[in-house]
Amino acid sequence: MIPLNKYTFFKEKEAIEGLCQFLNRSDKFSMGVNCREFEKQFAQYQGRKFGVLFNSGASANLCLLQALLNLGWLKTGAAVGFSALTWSTNVMPLFQFGFTPIPVDCSPDYLNVTSQTLRDRLKDRQLQCMFITNALGFTGDLDKIRDMCQDDGIILLEDNCESLGTELHSGKAGNFGLASTFSFYVAHHLSTIEGGMICTDSDELYEMLVISRANGWDRNLDPAAQKRWRDKYGVVSEFESKYTFYDLAYNLRPTEITGFLGMQQLKHIDENIDNREKIYLAIEREFIANDELKVLKRKHIAKLSSFAIPVICARAELREKYLARFVEAGVEVRPMIAGNICRQPFYRKYAGQEYDLAGTDFISQAGFYCGSDPELTPEEIQVIRGCLRK
Ligand SMILES: Cc1ncc(COP(=O)(O)O)c(C=O)c1O
Repeated sequence: MIPLNKYTFFKEKEAIEGLCQFLNRSDKFSMGVNCREFEKQFAQYQGRKFGVLFNSGASANLCLLQALLNLGWLKTGAAVGFSALTWSTNVMPLFQFGFTPIPVDCSPDYLNVTSQTLRDRLKDRQLQCMFITNALGFTGDLDKIRDMCQDDGIILLEDNCESLGTELHSGKAGNFGLASTFSFYVAHHLSTIEGGMICTDSDELYEMLVISRANGWDRNLDPAAQKRWRDKYGVVSEFESKYTFYDLAYNLRPTEITGFLGMQQLKHIDENIDNREKIYLAIEREFIANDELKVLKRKHIAKLSSFAIPVICARAELREKYLARFVEAGVEVRPMIAGNICRQPFYRKYAGQEYDLAGTDFISQAGFYCGSDPELTPEEIQVIRGCLRK
């Protein structure tokens, strides 16, 4: 059996030993210095000014949109575009906050929204925001998408939960918009068991994210920022400030275990991602050699941080044949994320208008994926390659 992910952590033995030592020597486990230090290190790795750590990627998505509402940068009812090939908790907050969700089609050549599919959508709908998903380690032409959004005054957000470490020639995935979200759930590139992050360069957004992450209070801001908030709202005593709640919020805090594990795993991120790229490139040879399978376009990508091995058959009828091969070889497989998410029960229940999403429908019907664990052995890689031969 080759499971989607073989281990909870990269270099698992070292991670678990380190965790045991951390637990033995620590006396505080609620959010504190380890979380703050991981936020700093992750923001530095990503090349962003700020990182805000969460208990999941879904929480990061939720808090990002709440913070934009709190700031008034997005208003209830705003038309928010999203990639039709995405994950449930990318789209669900759009309904929860009363935005108008507008799906944008994904190209089967890129697995993602491209400047072309976004341009097509913008012909019939104006958007105030585009919450794009970078799917399974791949991306569209994010530089062109960023320029289009800038020209049209569209706030660009990236759900980079599946593409940590992917770099385009024009910059790192996750650095093209106002903010980006990451997931550290077990199956993702960097695991803290559960966890998530938001990166941004905006001071204002950063402060609001910190307020919205925990109760709406100012306790996790630095003293200068706390003073500004207290002055603005006439909070004069330290005593009163402890239970002053400035704006709408949740409790989406991580624990010190999340922060510790994050730093521990971040030490190995380059090796982890190099392995992922090598594995994808070895397996990609089978796609190139087999005209029953599509080869995903990646010339715009300088570093491919593969999350999984996406397989898209040339015709939907071929999928059964290749799925059966994987099942027979004991290789665990999954549908292409949530498929065309507009066909999911929750979406149909709450959505109004229907859109033609032919590219995403094709990806859903002709595609599936298996894992690309960074510690796959050469023999396991051969098994996967064997499943992809005509
Ligand atoms: C694109 C995308 N966004 C958000 C999430 C949510 O992340 P989490 O599972 O950490 O809540 C996922 C999870 O797989 C995802 O794939």
